[in-house]
Amino acid sequence: MSLLKIARLGHPVIREGTVAITPQELSSEEVQRLIDDMVETMRDADGVGIAAPQVHVAKKIIAVEVDADNPRYPAQEPVPLTIIINPRIIHKISETEVSWEGCLSVPDLRGRVPRATMIEVEGLNRHGTEIHFEAQGFLARVIQHEVDHLNGHVFIDRVEDFSTLTHLREYQKFWENR
Ligand code: NI
Repeated sequence: MSLLKIARLGHPVIREGTVAITPQELSSEEVQRLIDDMVETMRDADGVGIAAPQVHVAKKIIAVEVDADNPRYPAQEPVPLTIIINPRIIHKISETEVSWEGCLSVPDLRGRVPRATMIEVEGLNRHGTEIHFEAQGFLARVIQHEVDHLNGHVFIDRVEDFSTLTHLREYQKFWENR
């Protein structure tokens, strides 16, 4: 496995959208290695999610994992490693919650973003098996954030009040526990 370079805001790949993965591609060594490398890159950067465009690949792959001791997102419910190929959010409840987000492609910034509190997700796992599940709370937030990346969106596009934007150090100092 190897660490991949993370694309930052301003690189066209962050905005250009993605294409679906075919079953043949998914079973290829190349895509299986890409998935492993995305996971390693996410963990190395203390991320809780990553989408393929963030490693310069315009395809529909996301990974989510929340460790109980993640230093960038302390005190969140742990989520086991989940890979979703061609994810689709097929339902969102209308209730939203506003909370803090950051992004490996937008380093050192946090902002407050409204997201649906419960979603229904479909897609494939890395072995090509159909998956279908409901997610709520922080997991629902992370999946909505990562699926946004597949459509060329970043969290800043969703911030309603730009006066909430804060650098990470100031976030930790003034806002983290509020
Ligand atoms: Ni992101």
